[in-house]
Parts: sequence; C-alpha cells; structure tokens
Amino acid sequence: MLKNKHIILGITGGIAAYKSASLARLLVKAGAEVQVIMTPSAREFITPLTMSTLTGKPVITEFFTANTGQWNSHVDLGLWADAMVIAPATACTIGKMANGIADNMLVTTYLSAKAPVFVAPAMDLDMMRHPSTVHNIEKLRSYGNYIIEPAEGELASHLIGKGRMEEPENIVRVLTNHFAEKDLTGHHILITAGPTFEKIDPVRFIGNYSSGKMGYAIAEEAASRGARVSLVSGPVDIRVNNPAIELIPVESARQMLDACVALYPQCDCGIMCAAVADYAPDHQATHKIKREHEDVPVIKLVKNPDIAKTLGEMKQPGQLLVGFALETDNEEFNAIEKLRKKNLDMIVLNSLRDAGAGFGTDTNKVTIFTASGRTIATPLKSKTEVAHDVIDTIISIAHEP
Ligand code: PMT
Repeated sequence: MLKNKHIILGITGGIAAYKSASLARLLVKAGAEVQVIMTPSAREFITPLTMSTLTGKPVITEFFTANTGQWNSHVDLGLWADAMVIAPATACTIGKMANGIADNMLVTTYLSAKAPVFVAPAMDLDMMRHPSTVHNIEKLRSYGNYIIEPAEGELASHLIGKGRMEEPENIVRVLTNHFAEKDLTGHHILITAGPTFEKIDPVRFIGNYSSGKMGYAIAEEAASRGARVSLVSGPVDIRVNNPAIELIPVESARQMLDACVALYPQCDCGIMCAAVADYAPDHQATHKIKREHEDVPVIKLVKNPDIAKTLGEMKQPGQLLVGFALETDNEEFNAIEKLRKKNLDMIVLNSLRDAGAGFGTDTNKVTIFTASGRTIATPLKSKTEVAHDVIDTIISIAHEP
C-alpha cells in the first residue's frame, strides 16, 4: 500500500527519535519515498547522516542550506507529500502545531501540507497528561490530524505510564491502513468496548479492569477500512481518532444493552468486545452508604442481561455476530460453549493465563474459533495487529459459502 507513496517523516527532539530510524527503514522497505525533516533539537538525538543513509535523501532541517544558499521550499514539500508523519512528536512541537507557531522547517511544512498528517506523541507521563498537552492534542485532532496514541510502559525517566511512542511497526500499519483498500466501505459495524460500571450508591460501583484498548483498536481498524462504526463504550480513558466512528458512551450493562438493541438491526455485524458485568446490585442507594452504620451492608446482586445472547436471538440472515471470551481455565471448551449458546459466528478467546493478554495491556494473544469449525491461533501481538486479524477473519466468514 505504501509503494511509491511520498511520505514526509518529521522528527522532533525526544529520546524516542532513535525509533525514527527503524520507522524510516520500514517505510523505505515498504516501497515509500521518505523525506526526513528534523527540528534543530532532533539532531541532538539522532544524526541527519543516519536518516539520510536510511532514506537515500538529504535530510532537511533548515529553511535553506547555508553553504549553497539552496532554499528548501516548505510549500513544495507540502504539495509533494501523500502523508506526513511526525514521530516522535514532542509536547513542544505539538504545541507549535496546534497554535501555528511556524518557527522551524517542520512546523512550517506541516502548515503547508495538503496531505493527511499523523502525529505520534512521545513524552514523559506528566507532560502527556498536562492540561495544555491534552488541549493541544485535542486541537490537532479537531483540525483533522490523526493522533497515533502513545503506549504505556517504562519511559526514559524510568517512570511508568503513558508516553512511549507507538512502535514503528504499528505506525507503518496505521499508514498502510490509511492507504489500504477500503474493503468495508458501505458496511455498518456495531462494536462494544470497555467495562460496565454497576452503581451501588452515588460514589461506588462494581466494575472490572477492561481498559477499552482491544475494542477501540477494532473500531479504528474497521473505520480505517471504510466501515461506519457505532462504538458503544463503557467508561474508559481513550479517545477515538477516526471520524467514521460514532461513540455512544454508556455506563451500565442495561444502558449498553439498550444502545445495542437499538443499533444492531441497522448493522451488518456486531463485535462484542466489552467486559460486561454479569451482576449488578439489585438496589442503588440514592445517598452514599455511610461507614458509621452499625451493620456491614449486604449487597444483593441480580443477573445482568446478556447483550451478546440478546443480539444472537435478534440476528437476521446476512448479519454476523462476533463475541470475545475472557477465560482463566478450560479456555477452549468455555469459548466454544459461548459461541454456541450466544448464536455467534465467531468467538475470540483470550486467556488471563497468557502473559501480555487480556485486560489493560497493549498486546493480546488470541485464538479465534468460527461457527464453521475453523481455529486460528496467533502469537502475542499488539492489539492493533489483533484487531487487523479479527476484521480479516470476519471478512473471510462473510465470504464463506
Ligand atoms: O479492554 P481491554 O483492557 O483491552 O481488554 C480486552 C478484553 C479482555 C476486555 C477483551 O479482549 C475481552 O475478552 N472482552 C470480553 C470480556 C468478557 O466479558 O468475556 P466473557 O467471556 O465474560 O463474555 C463472553 C461474551 O459475551 C463477550 O463477547 C461479552 O462482551 C459478552 N457478554 C458477556 C456478559 C454479558 N452480560 N453480556 C455480554 O454481551
């Protein structure tokens, strides 16, 4: 998909700039023509010589080359590009981009670019969550730029949190998806994601550890392949990137059920990735339950509706329904039982016994079982890659005789 594409790779001054070398190499390997533009401080982290060797093109850092007087036209570059990717993007460059501060070649070219712009932030976790950074990223998103969310993990400061630049392989995947054939154009997909919160009183709830990462990755994958996506999501801390994704935020299983029942009849496929609480308190206190009570309160639980099963009963010919199974034991048997009982066309099993799989991680290890009897087991991959596999398998099911 990237063959002969003109890509501007913008590199800014952060430690993650060392990953830009791999990114450039992968882009070139995929057949793209890559023009690197570095901010002056990026040169402190990785040399222009490294980048020009990898891309076969002189790196641009200034408006003109001092010894020859050759002018580097940001306007021509902006017109030349099929895509611009800024990786890593520091808080400083993001701030300049959001506010039109064109004091270097990179931001000036960004302002001239007609092509889609992908921004891969990388910074320390406190910078990442500072209101000014959050606001600037939001501004960039509202201007139509694509934000490639940073991952969580150990940062250069040795603190642990969100701020690691997305891995080069995944950035290439985002770009590839952007240029990919839109094989889901004209299709409407319903996706559930995240946990549900079941209220005990105004300050407490029953919930679970789902971060929403898996469901949101599937939503982004489906939208990037041309689908219209309705994403019914429990409370999570993730933003959607693609304007083809309509976010329907809910809190409880009941609210998720209502939204899904209303949407599913208009959809070609439902993908139930949410970790829905199986039980809810039968009564919600209207005031905070006080600690001073003499007796320890007893919370009686009632069963929540099974959303996947309800949709399985509503399913019409031509519609598909996909479930997930999160297991801790007897995995394959339990997953296949759920596939059958909920009238699913396919189920994606992830086990909490596999390191790096399931809740909260950026990775997952899944085995896919189809109602037609196929089993597809994959190794540990990023959730973006798993999302790609899930959508590919759904498309293959739709083509089964
Ligand atoms: O969000 P992340 O942190 O990225 O984690 C991803 C994940 C682990 C939540 C995801 O990969 C996953 O496994 N989701 C399903 C979790 C789950 O609730 O599994 P289950 O085996 O209990 O449910 C089976 C299926 O029925 C699921 O499709 C579930 O969405 C659905 N279900 C379950 C209960 C219920 N009351 N209604 C439902 O629709």
